[in-house]
Amino acid sequence: MIQVKNISKIYNKGKSNAFQALDNISFSVEKGELVSIVGTSGAGKSTLLHILACIDNYDAGEYYIDGVLIKNISEKRLAEIRNMKIGLVMQDFALVDDFTAIQNVMLPLDFSKEKRSDKKEKAMAALRSVGMDKFANNLSNKLSGGQKQRTAIARAIVNDPDVILADEPTGALDSKTASEIMDLFKILHNDGKTIIIVTHDKEIAAQCERIIEISDGKIV
Ligand SMILES: Nc1ncnc2c1ncn2[C@@H]1O[C@H](COP(=O)(O)OP(=O)(O)OP(=O)(O)O)[C@@H](O)[C@H]1O
Ligand SMILES: [Mg+2]
Repeated sequence: MIQVKNISKIYNKGKSNAFQALDNISFSVEKGELVSIVGTSGAGKSTLLHILACIDNYDAGEYYIDGVLIKNISEKRLAEIRNMKIGLVMQDFALVDDFTAIQNVMLPLDFSKEKRSDKKEKAMAALRSVGMDKFANNLSNKLSGGQKQRTAIARAIVNDPDVILADEPTGALDSKTASEIMDLFKILHNDGKTIIIVTHDKEIAAQCERIIEISDGKIV
């Protein structure tokens, strides 16, 4: 499903403040796996996840998703791949503050030519699956941290992607809410989704099938 071969990433390449965030990273993830990526702050976890999500590029190596090499692809085709295959839960939720929960969840459906009523129904189903249907019409900046995280997950799954990528999805939550969010990922995993979770929480990582550890941009 996902193949990362000798990926390197250098921020500010060629400048005096150049910084190698990823150094020759290789791993693969099979369809249906539940994997965690762990490492200390600054290790390169978000950098790696953004590359996997096709929202950032890399400087060397190859990244394949479903056999397709993600390199030198037009922005239009990339957007298509992101939209069809990938659901991303960002480290800071990345919800639109003055949108309601359901408006946020409908964002990835913007591209689709479906009727608005069908989009609404899909978004509602996604919200229901994360226990957020009661809050569908609440403004996202008025939601609690756990409710925001659930909304972000609903938005990530609304297009029924094969791969779900989540950056510290429990980082800002108390341990009870964190374990509820983890239960959601387990349900998605049981539904056959491929899931990669970035976390610094050992308890969360231990609930995954496999742990990939990175340190200073390298796999340990
Ligand atoms: N846009 C950028 N420009 C320059 N350096 C960056 C940029 N983004 C990240 N970095 C640097 O790359 C390194 C890896 O950052 P990254 O955000 O991937 O870490 P992380 O493992 O996700 O950390 P955290 O656990 O704190 O979220 C850090 O040293 C960071 O300062
Ligand atoms: Mg990070």
